[in-house]
Amino acid sequence: MPVSLLTVGRFVDFPVSRGAKQSYDRTNAPPRKGLTVAAKPVAKRLVVLVSGSGTNLQALLDAIETTGTEAYGAEIVAVGADREGIEGLARAERAQIPTFVRKVKEFGTRDEWDAALAEAVAGYEPDLVVSAGFMKIVGKEFLARFGGRFVNTHPALLPSFPGPHGVRDALAYGARVTGCTVHFVDDGVDTGPIIAQGVVEVRDEDDESALHERIKEVERRLLVEVVGRLARNGYRIEGRKVVIQ
Ligand code: GRF
Repeated sequence: MPVSLLTVGRFVDFPVSRGAKQSYDRTNAPPRKGLTVAAKPVAKRLVVLVSGSGTNLQALLDAIETTGTEAYGAEIVAVGADREGIEGLARAERAQIPTFVRKVKEFGTRDEWDAALAEAVAGYEPDLVVSAGFMKIVGKEFLARFGGRFVNTHPALLPSFPGPHGVRDALAYGARVTGCTVHFVDDGVDTGPIIAQGVVEVRDEDDESALHERIKEVERRLLVEVVGRLARNGYRIEGRKVVIQ
């Protein structure tokens, strides 16, 4: 069960991955007595999944560019999508990051699509997978491989207003505050352990688009901060609680 991956209080300290090994500063000779050979900080490998305009992806790209991969703690090794012709993919291409597309309709069943998506992501050996406006629910195979290291951002304060219309639903309900939630993905719809949340006030004059734009300003900053902290510090998931070291 994918959920069990999220419930055992496992500490995820990112075992050294393929790319990481190469950047360790090592020598084959045993260190001389009293000499400490320090490992360089290692950037974690991120695969980002998108379905639309990709401004959250852009925020991650900009933060990594500005801060540097080692200081930020992560690099984006690939961007995946469920459709072609989107600005999210164009942003990745401009940044010269490999992209891949797996469309549901190209597969006989949803499970086959899910397995193909998981396989494509696995090919990049990510430490973390980030769903940044990826508008598909992944299935068992994906969660079996990436449960506990698959992060999503949602434009509402979960557990209120889950699903694809979080902004519209909060507005229609008459909520006076809403916001965004960065959380780990489990096998429910926007039900996984919450990592961080940001609050946005609803204004009387708001329509869905104006409110969503203000949420996205907060969401981009939150996602950049959370992904960096997860990557740099490691974390553990204890039931519903996420503890970043
Ligand atoms: C974000 O608000 C995300 O939470 C939602 O879709 C939006 C994606 O925006 N699921 P972008 O593609 O990153 O600009």
